[in-house]
Formats: sequence, C-alpha cells, structure tokens
Amino acid sequence: MNSLIYLDHAATSWPKPPEVMTAMQQAMNEAAANPGRGSHSMAVKASRVLFETRVVLAKLFHVKNANDIIFTSNTTIALNMAIKGVLQPGDHVIATMIEHNSVRRPLEYLKRTHGITVDYVKVNANGEMDVAEMKLALNRPTRLVVCSHSSNLLGSIIPVAEIGRLAHERGALFLVDAAQSAGIIDIDVNKMNIDMLAFPGHKGLLGPQGTGGLYIAPHVDLEPLIHGGTGSQSEEKEQPTVRPDRYEAGTPNTPGIAGLHAGVDKVRKLTPAAIYAQEWALTQQAIDGLRDIPNLRLLGPKIGMPRSGIVSFVMNDVDSAEVAFRLDREYGIAVRAGMHCTPLAHYAVLTDKSGAVRASVGVDTTEHEVEALVKAMNALYRT
Ligand SMILES: Cc1ncc(COP(=O)(O)O)c(C=O)c1O
Repeated sequence: MNSLIYLDHAATSWPKPPEVMTAMQQAMNEAAANPGRGSHSMAVKASRVLFETRVVLAKLFHVKNANDIIFTSNTTIALNMAIKGVLQPGDHVIATMIEHNSVRRPLEYLKRTHGITVDYVKVNANGEMDVAEMKLALNRPTRLVVCSHSSNLLGSIIPVAEIGRLAHERGALFLVDAAQSAGIIDIDVNKMNIDMLAFPGHKGLLGPQGTGGLYIAPHVDLEPLIHGGTGSQSEEKEQPTVRPDRYEAGTPNTPGIAGLHAGVDKVRKLTPAAIYAQEWALTQQAIDGLRDIPNLRLLGPKIGMPRSGIVSFVMNDVDSAEVAFRLDREYGIAVRAGMHCTPLAHYAVLTDKSGAVRASVGVDTTEHEVEALVKAMNALYRT
C-alpha cells in the first residue's frame, strides 16, 4: 500500500476510489467513441455516459434539468465561461477577498479590456465574511456577485444562501466557486439562490483530473466562451442554442466523465454532510495538535467553528516551502506551501510575505495520518 501521507486534497483528491478507475477503464474499452457525433452503438453508449453523469450531478446539486449542467475540464474553465459569458463592458462586479486567481484573473482581465469595475468584499482575520460587508458593497447597480464557497487557503465557509438572496434583491446574478465545497458541503442551487455553480470533478467529487463543470440556471443566457463543432445543427454557422451543446464544443473527456460518475456515486452514498463531519473532525484534531507548537500561527476559523478540510499555518522565521519540503522528504507527508493562488486572502490574514503551509484532508484521510502530521511538526519545530 502507499506509504505516502497525502494531505493535499484541496489541490486534487488522491488516491481516486477504485470504482473511478474501473469506470474509466470500462469506458475506454466499451464507450470511448465520440458522443453526440454518430448513431452507431458505441457513440450512443458514449452519449449515455455523459447523460447519466449529468443526471447524478443534477441530483447532487438539486438541479431540475440535467442539461443545465455543462462539462468542463476543471473549475477554472467553468469560472471563465461564467464570468466572460455574462459580463458586458462597464458592468460592476462584487467578489470577495478569498477569491482564487481563477476568479480574480478573469475579472482583472475584463477590468483592463472591457472597463468593468470590481469590488472585493473584506473578510475578517480568520477569513470569515460578515454578511453586513456584502450588504454595504451592494449599494449600486451590480451585474454579478461571485464568491468562493470556501477559502482554499483558510477553509472558512461563506454564507452563500444569504449572499445569493441579497444579490437577487439587488438584481445581480450569483456565481459560486464550489472548488472547495462540491462533495463536501451540501449544495442546493435553488435554496442557495445560485444562478451559476462552477465545480471541479477532481477534488471533492473524487473524479479524475480533467473533469469539472458549470451549472447554468435556465434563466441565465451566457454567451459561449468556446465555439465549434457540437455534432448537432451542423448546417448552422452559429453555435446551437440548445443546452448542453451550446457550451460543449469539441470532443469531451468521456472516460474522465465516466470516472466522475463513479466518484459522484460514492459521494452521494456517503453524503456530503457525513463527509463534512468527518473532515471537520480531522481538522479539529490537526488544530489541537499543532496549536501549541512555538512560533506556529494557525490560520482560518477558530477551533470549533465551521471549516472545510483545510488547516493552514505559518511558522515565524521558517519559510513555508522549507516546512513542506521537510515534511515530504523526512516524513513522507505531502502538503502544499506558498500563495495557493489566492493573494488577497493572504493580505487579509497578513501572510502575503510569508505564504503558508496548507494541509488538507480528504474522504479517506485517517486520524492516524493527521497524527503523523502533528508528530512530525512537533518533532521538527518544538525545540
Ligand atoms: C477556490 C478555488 N477556486 C478555483 C480553483 C481552480 O480549480 P481547478 O484546478 O479545478 O481549475 C481552485 C483550485 O484549487 C480553488 O481552490
């Protein structure tokens, strides 16, 4: 078995469940024709792989029509599709300080090229957001509110249902980046007032890399980001209007989507609520074991507070890259160090100079593995 202790699930989950690998291999052997591009039986089988995966994702996120779920190769593409598909020159957007560069960079690009304006709502020193701050920001016509459901640096959880309600009250669309929450926190797009949900297939949904998606509510008409062949209405020079074809030009990742189906099945069987409870308990164990180490500062919500499966910390006078390197080389523990693609969150918690070490747990992480991290950190830095 693996001796590596993998605590980098926030980047991508690993190892993937055996069912995921079996489903991918089966799809490669039996269904890897081009879906939607032919009526022979293997092409039909491939189309079925896509359709059935859309259906289980729709059930997971409480989406009524599975065709409102678009496959992408990761969260970043889904976010770019949503942001660039909806915004017009001069629009105003509200985001938060915990956004990943997958949100911030498309917004900053549109700021430069299309004259949009962007406000980043403050979070507190633990990365938590006071809804009152969002209310204050929503004081002028706003086209889009976008926020990360959970910070990939701090694990803090944003009250999306309430923010979605506020956004709608002011006539804004609401886009949620579920990179750190899909499969880990229950998501109901209706109850949470979500118009667009960008999610990875390869993190909490346990699918392979190269999978992800975007839910687009029926009333949202996005301009497609990518134009090309869909296997449908081929005589038309414009992109078809029908979903999902409108947003899925080009050959999809059929084997990956088959694997994603198996991952989602596992998540639905365990339930996101149970996964959250288990991951939360592991984060509390880590916090408890790390908090007394001299010169170590834990980031994110206080012990006992809600958080996703992320525990980040900084050491005074020791570079975070060095900590991660020593954990890997001396103890076989994989964590991530650096800026985690979220510079504004670092400003919020004053780690923009140092970066941080991030340990993140997954569905199969054990107490024993968290204990190994705690012991290694104590052995390295409790002098
Ligand atoms: C909050 C957040 N948003 C977006 C992304 C980008 O996800 P992907 O790698 O699936 O494009 C990540 C990746 O870690 C993330 O944590």
